[in-house]
Amino acid sequence: MAETFRNYIGGEWRAAVKGATFESLNPAHTGEVIGVFQRSTAEDVALAVEAAASAQRAWREVPVPERGEMLYTVARLMEERKEELAQLMTREMGKVIKEARGDVQEGIDMAKYIAGEGRRYFGQTVPSELRDKFCMTVRQPIGVVGLITPWNFPIAIPCWKMMPALLCGNAVVLKPAEDTPACATRLVEIFIEAGYPKGVINLVTGYGEEAGQPLLEHPGVAAISFTGSSDVGRFIAATCGQNLKRVSLELGGKNAIVVMDDADLELVIDGAIWGGFGTAGQRCTASSRLIVEKSVVREVEERLVARAEALKIGDGLRPEVEVGPVVNSDQLRRVDSYTAIGRDEGARLLTGGRVLTEEGLGDGYFYAPTVFGSVEPHMRVAQEEIFGPTVSVIPVDSFDHAIEVANGTQYGLSLAIYTRDVNRAFRAINRLEAGIVYVNAPTIGAEIQLPFGGIKGTGNGHREAGSTAIDQFSEIKSVFVDYSGHLQRAQIDNRE
Ligand code: UN1
Repeated sequence: MAETFRNYIGGEWRAAVKGATFESLNPAHTGEVIGVFQRSTAEDVALAVEAAASAQRAWREVPVPERGEMLYTVARLMEERKEELAQLMTREMGKVIKEARGDVQEGIDMAKYIAGEGRRYFGQTVPSELRDKFCMTVRQPIGVVGLITPWNFPIAIPCWKMMPALLCGNAVVLKPAEDTPACATRLVEIFIEAGYPKGVINLVTGYGEEAGQPLLEHPGVAAISFTGSSDVGRFIAATCGQNLKRVSLELGGKNAIVVMDDADLELVIDGAIWGGFGTAGQRCTASSRLIVEKSVVREVEERLVARAEALKIGDGLRPEVEVGPVVNSDQLRRVDSYTAIGRDEGARLLTGGRVLTEEGLGDGYFYAPTVFGSVEPHMRVAQEEIFGPTVSVIPVDSFDHAIEVANGTQYGLSLAIYTRDVNRAFRAINRLEAGIVYVNAPTIGAEIQLPFGGIKGTGNGHREAGSTAIDQFSEIKSVFVDYSGHLQRAQIDNRE
């Protein structure tokens, strides 16, 4: 019998008001139920928001360094439970165990980084145009923030959002993806153990339309932070716009590796395999396009196909496995439908392109690592985010052509160039339209001490992590202190 998990609202573990539940399954063995979770609705969200609002009033008065230090405790507990969390993650969403450990580590890194922010949390002092007047900015909490997180980084991304949100003195309501509620619950347990006051952290599990949407619409929620697909992001932005709610969006990508003819091709293939098929391609940063100068495209294709075919597919708990399943049956169908789309458009299927059912893979959602060749930049497989193990190789004539193709999608998250020519590398850094650029490394693998996010259709101008992490979750207040003892009128008295 699988364990039943509850929501965490106002410091108590509670069943959903309407009493419905759903199951989280192991995508590598769909018969294995990870747990039974509350299928929450607007009623549960309302309770969580109320609890958060009342707890936030005291929480905002706790000194910021003290709020920061609690994150060192979170980091320590996460370190102690790193293996346990990683194994749960592999079972719940399929990524291979090494990557799952990396995902937890990304959360630990964030805890330590944001803990330190508690002793910085800078404002500015700015000169006044008047005498005997002092001007400064201070940061303030926003209030109650709603965090809607995806399944592909089920520990790291909730950490990216919760940690800075809490440091800034907000109370949070976390609505994790319905594919990974167990990871979110275990993470929340760690925060509870670290001593966060009741109501400051609330967890509401369930589906987007039932539990996520009420969070967008609730007047007590001052800001929403969302990571997920562009379609859902557009809906969230519109709803938050109607309610004049602050919103930050981290959406899709159609990231590319540009390969110049002077590149170290061994390095290129290592990077393309890791960037394209790591996490079964289910990263918003996945290297789903390979834009290659024509003189080397044949060689790149051949070597890529050979390596893709040698990848070990299976249950990510087995240490030798390199690619796990995709997360669920919808995702499997979606990935497969893009194989048909690519074929119909006239791309050459070089390898993969099928659901795997052989030896031990039959009861999971496994898809063969897939490579399309002779892809043209306008094709759907070169434009749309597939979020699976499918890589499109696009031949180009020159550096300028490569940059144009790399920039020629609606997205702008992560772009990479492989070249040994330093001048070209810097020209690419300048011209690539993306929030993140790599030189001689694939498009995945961002480190948390740098801002993370994208331009164009990837987001709405925010950056998570790094020095920008706290911007998303704090308000800036400008303060003017006049110690002259008489009325001083700016723009007027000092002009006469
Ligand atoms: C995501 O895919 O949603 O840069 C985040 C990376 C990871 C984060 C990816 N550090 O690939």
